Amino acid sequence: MSMTDEEKLKKALDFATDKHSGQFRKGGLPYITHPVTVSEIVKANGGGIDAQITALFHDLLEDTDATEEEIDAIGGKEVLEAVKLLTKKKGYVMEEYVEGIRSNPIAKMVKAADRLHNLQSAFCTDDSFKRRYILESIDWYLDFSPEIPKAVKALVDSLDQPLPKQSLEYEPLDYKGTLSADGFALYGNICYSLSPAEIRTVKGYAVCIGGKSMGVFEKLPDEYSGISVIDYGDKLIVPGMVDLHIHAPQYAFRGMGMDMELMDWLEKQAFPEEEKYEDLSYAEKAYSQFAEQMKKSATTRACIFATKHRDATEILMDKMEQTGIISYVGKVNMDREAPPALCEPNADFSAFDTYGWLNDIKGKYRNTMPILTPRFVPCCTDELLSQLEKIQQSYDLPVQSHLSENRGEIEWVKEHCPDVKFYGDAYDRYGLFGKTKGEGKPAKTIMAHCVYSSDEEAERLCENGVFIAHCPTSNMNLSSGIAPIRRYIDMGARIGLGSDVAGGQTESIFRSITDAIQVSKLYWRIADEKMKPLTFEEAFYMATMGGGEFFGKAGSFEKDYEFDAVVLDDSLLPHPQELTLRERLERSVYMGLDEKGICAKYAAGNKII
Ligand code: GUN
Ligand code: FE
Repeated sequence: MSMTDEEKLKKALDFATDKHSGQFRKGGLPYITHPVTVSEIVKANGGGIDAQITALFHDLLEDTDATEEEIDAIGGKEVLEAVKLLTKKKGYVMEEYVEGIRSNPIAKMVKAADRLHNLQSAFCTDDSFKRRYILESIDWYLDFSPEIPKAVKALVDSLDQPLPKQSLEYEPLDYKGTLSADGFALYGNICYSLSPAEIRTVKGYAVCIGGKSMGVFEKLPDEYSGISVIDYGDKLIVPGMVDLHIHAPQYAFRGMGMDMELMDWLEKQAFPEEEKYEDLSYAEKAYSQFAEQMKKSATTRACIFATKHRDATEILMDKMEQTGIISYVGKVNMDREAPPALCEPNADFSAFDTYGWLNDIKGKYRNTMPILTPRFVPCCTDELLSQLEKIQQSYDLPVQSHLSENRGEIEWVKEHCPDVKFYGDAYDRYGLFGKTKGEGKPAKTIMAHCVYSSDEEAERLCENGVFIAHCPTSNMNLSSGIAPIRRYIDMGARIGLGSDVAGGQTESIFRSITDAIQVSKLYWRIADEKMKPLTFEEAFYMATMGGGEFFGKAGSFEKDYEFDAVVLDDSLLPHPQELTLRERLERSVYMGLDEKGICAKYAAGNKII
């Protein structure tokens, strides 16, 4: 005659109690209290009889002399299978252990409850144990149940020494973009900005030592007479382009879905594509293509959004590292107003997943750096922004996000944050908007778009030294509007250009320069005749030195700038008449010579094509 569930459970409890007798928990309680509590949590979460018995048995094979036969006899095949998966065997590999548990719904449910109870009981342990336990939970179990990040948070708050700096032992990443200490010179027609008003053109030598520019000379100075000279003849040599705003996961659908405004486009194009990055084989394929195309472009520095997925973001960072391009890459944070597959379950999860990501990549890259990436205010709760503030301060991380791109978006922010003075204030009150009000270090910040910033918002942008990523191509495609860049220039704002792929259909910053000038003409003609159009000098400056400032000294061949260079063969654009170098540069940009005419590229002194 078969037993009732109750009898079966009683038998299992007696067996487990017997086997664990004489064993105690760290805090002194009899050990059996743990499997019993885990079983209760499983039951409360809707787990059936097999899951409850698995919970009672989950430590038997590892910690007692109970045998597989005994477990099978009381619990049955399913229970035995789950208990075996939950047992760490000698010489086990953590990846395989966790993968095994994930593959079995009963084992996964029990592990989630086990971890939760252990986190809740870790309060009586010391800081060093707590830290190890917190880190292990972040690394492996954060997504097992929505309760786990909350329990991790509670344990973090109980630490004597606050997380993260000491506990994560995170050393701020700094790319070491150096090479050939002996240096070299490029010979050709060198064109670079001295200021927003002036492009210097020289037939001569751009000298690079230790990854840095030593300046540009018509004749090679004696002190450099021993270095190797790469002769590019009549070609043009310009600083590498800086893309202050691009979404890597959106590259796959560039040039598609271009007849929608922002919100519809997010819902129908961007979010469905970004969901795919849960699948690492898709991420691998898509990010390989993205990185390869970026490598071929005129861009030498970029600030890149990934998705919320930590592992896929790491794949993107691996790929970008291999290109030699200097980049900031951000795992996206979003805990509201997104489809379930993209919405992180709560602010704690989002924050700890970010810790986990930062921890994973610690010390891994030379050219690739992390950047904190709250998607935009509609997708981030106050609680999340407040946790990101702590991460920003502890790690001294830069920040990137979106601001005042679209009228509907701004209304949405007002609904979510009725008490802020203006959209940007919703970031600023959490120290995610450039200069901080308190003691903390400023958060070097990029805000993309700023099409509709009020006077107050624009003043705060300037005051706080926030970089505006002007993305004219995207602003046209998504019918967002025209950002009043002349106004921001006159106010003294820091401004660079962004392709905003796939709002923008191309990663070409030459295209962004052209579009920036063209939309400024429409703005002047149609919206405000006091706002003079941008000159070529101004737009070229934004694409190089303007955005380059975000990376320190980059975007020019002036002395001590990081040596980023692109060599262009403009013989592909024939002409019968004599042209000045300035004219050749302008038409190379307007004609999109970056598509076919790039013959070499250097980033921080490394030759990457
Ligand atoms: N605002 C929030 N997310 C996005 C995005 O992916 N692209 C653009 N252009 N704006 C956004
Ligand atoms: Fe964007």
